[in-house]
Amino acid sequence: MKQLKFAARYIARHWWQYLLGIAALYMVDWVNVYVPEFTGRIINGLTDRTLDMQGAMKIVWMIAGMGLMIAIGRFGWRFFIFGAARSIEREMRGDMYGHLSKLSMHYFNRHKTGDLMAHFTNDLMSVRMLLGMTVITAFDATVMLVLVLVQMITYVSPKLTLVAILPLLIITVGDFFYGKMMHKRFKARQEAFSSLTDQVQESISGIRVIKAFVQERKELYAFALSAQNAKDKNLRVVRLQAMMMPIMDLIIGASTLLTLLYGGYLAIQGEIDVGQFVAFNSYVGMLVWPMMAVGECITSISQGLASLGRIHHIFEEQPEIVDGQQTDHDVTALKGEIRLNHLTFAYPDMPDVTVLEDVSVTVKPGETLAILGRTGSGKSTVPSLLVRLYDVADGMITIDGHDLKTIPLGVLRENIACVPQDNFLFSDTLQNNIAFGSADKSLESVIHAAELACIHDNIAEFPEQYQTVVGERGVTLSSGQKQRSSIARALMKAAAPQASAPILILDDALSAVDTDTERKILDNLRTVRGNDRTTIIVAHRISTIQDADHILVLDDGKVAEYGTHEELLASDGLYKSLFDKQQLEKQLREDHEEGGEQNV
Ligand SMILES: Nc1ncnc2c1ncn2[C@@H]1O[C@H](COP(=O)(O)OP(=O)(O)OP(=O)(O)O)[C@@H](O)[C@H]1O
Ligand SMILES: [Mg+2]
Repeated sequence: MKQLKFAARYIARHWWQYLLGIAALYMVDWVNVYVPEFTGRIINGLTDRTLDMQGAMKIVWMIAGMGLMIAIGRFGWRFFIFGAARSIEREMRGDMYGHLSKLSMHYFNRHKTGDLMAHFTNDLMSVRMLLGMTVITAFDATVMLVLVLVQMITYVSPKLTLVAILPLLIITVGDFFYGKMMHKRFKARQEAFSSLTDQVQESISGIRVIKAFVQERKELYAFALSAQNAKDKNLRVVRLQAMMMPIMDLIIGASTLLTLLYGGYLAIQGEIDVGQFVAFNSYVGMLVWPMMAVGECITSISQGLASLGRIHHIFEEQPEIVDGQQTDHDVTALKGEIRLNHLTFAYPDMPDVTVLEDVSVTVKPGETLAILGRTGSGKSTVPSLLVRLYDVADGMITIDGHDLKTIPLGVLRENIACVPQDNFLFSDTLQNNIAFGSADKSLESVIHAAELACIHDNIAEFPEQYQTVVGERGVTLSSGQKQRSSIARALMKAAAPQASAPILILDDALSAVDTDTERKILDNLRTVRGNDRTTIIVAHRISTIQDADHILVLDDGKVAEYGTHEELLASDGLYKSLFDKQQLEKQLREDHEEGGEQNV
């Protein structure tokens, strides 16, 4: 019931809308119930000939007035209650998005995008239904039921009422079981839908790979299976709903039949008059909807509560990486002295696999640390830990002597400009992509950063230059252009005139750039950043990193070698063999190019 308390917070904010809506609803019901009584009176007056034209007109005018009240009331309850439900949906959606964006990487690793998206669409929709339509139906049904029953008993006959509602009671009992079955089927339907969206999302994101590996057929087949599954699950829901209707009709028919028989008998006996008999038949008709509504309510309440539970579950998820009690709020800027102190780390979802083991390094402000190693050796893990995508034990990483956890998270991330290995461009203009996250979004600053990252010339050639919109994941750019755009984005933070970030991390950010351009970018960095800012470069090519102050060679998470270019060459280990291999490749390439020139 925690989810109800959660929903109550939102409902409380709109209590007056609900109050007005329910008042309007009550008015409509109340007026509705009196209409048959008036009709009954006209009929009686006409049969007894006690009613003259004037009297009849008076009643007709009253009925017309009632009609007007009903019309206004119906507009009122829709306006207030649907309005409140829509507002709550919007507020909840906003809160959910805000909360989700605070959650840690660990959470996103564990949850599929499709599932998360389903919370924003399906679940919010059924919560909206619960707080809108279902509130109305439940209230309306109860009020109608009570008012109509009271009218039937007081205006007509308690005995006849009992006979008429006995069959209708079966509907209510049946509804209970119907609701239970429906809930299960709805859940299955929801899951099928979620996996379907997931599949579509994944195959659209991966369409290039699918095409390249000619897997369209297989994907289509898998998709067809999912679609079939979704259809089956939907049909199971529909089938149950479809069965419900005829059964209802049967019961309603029985009830009407009994009323006609017994009511007719009572009228012949003179216990009730013709007006009452006619009114009573209207009442039985009016009872049918509330009785059925109970069934609808049970299903949409159970569905809405399940959705509310799933949404609440997200809110219960606590961000793991937050400013803790140890946070020292006096730290507002960093200089950039990084120290890894016997750093040992395993990812939370795989606690048994040590990804980094006993890595110790000290980088002074202004120095460059290069990290080299085979793929999977733990290079990218170091930057992730520095920006606290994951937490490590106390004291294992310090910046300027502060343990990472004592630095306010905002300050830490503001002070580190990072080009992640899997760079990402938003579906937006290049200018906005490069200025992303910077306070200064002016075109001059963007151009300056782009020049440093050696991407300006490319961009200048595009017809729309910096206003070029890059598609989802930057599909219109080559991977080298994408990489350099990401570098420019980081340089907005780390190399622009008013840039504040003293630490720059390039995670394999030059891999798709040719060696000449790479050299130019590195030279630019050195000139602009001067010698008081720290740089960490992860790379595979020795040419990228040979000028670094420290070179860390990782092998399976352990420090294989550590030192400067010269020291490592002298020690004749992994670095030396890599160096020799790359020298040889370079030699071969150059020979090949020369050979090519001679052939011309
Ligand atoms: N989010 C994650 N959860 C669990 N394990 C992970 C995660 N990210 C990386 N790993 C694992 O940690 C190890 C080191 O990964 P890392 O990304 O640091 O390697 P890398 O040296 O950067 O490799 P590459 O040169 O290919 O970029 C790998 O074995 C990888 O499978
Ligand atoms: Mg990596």
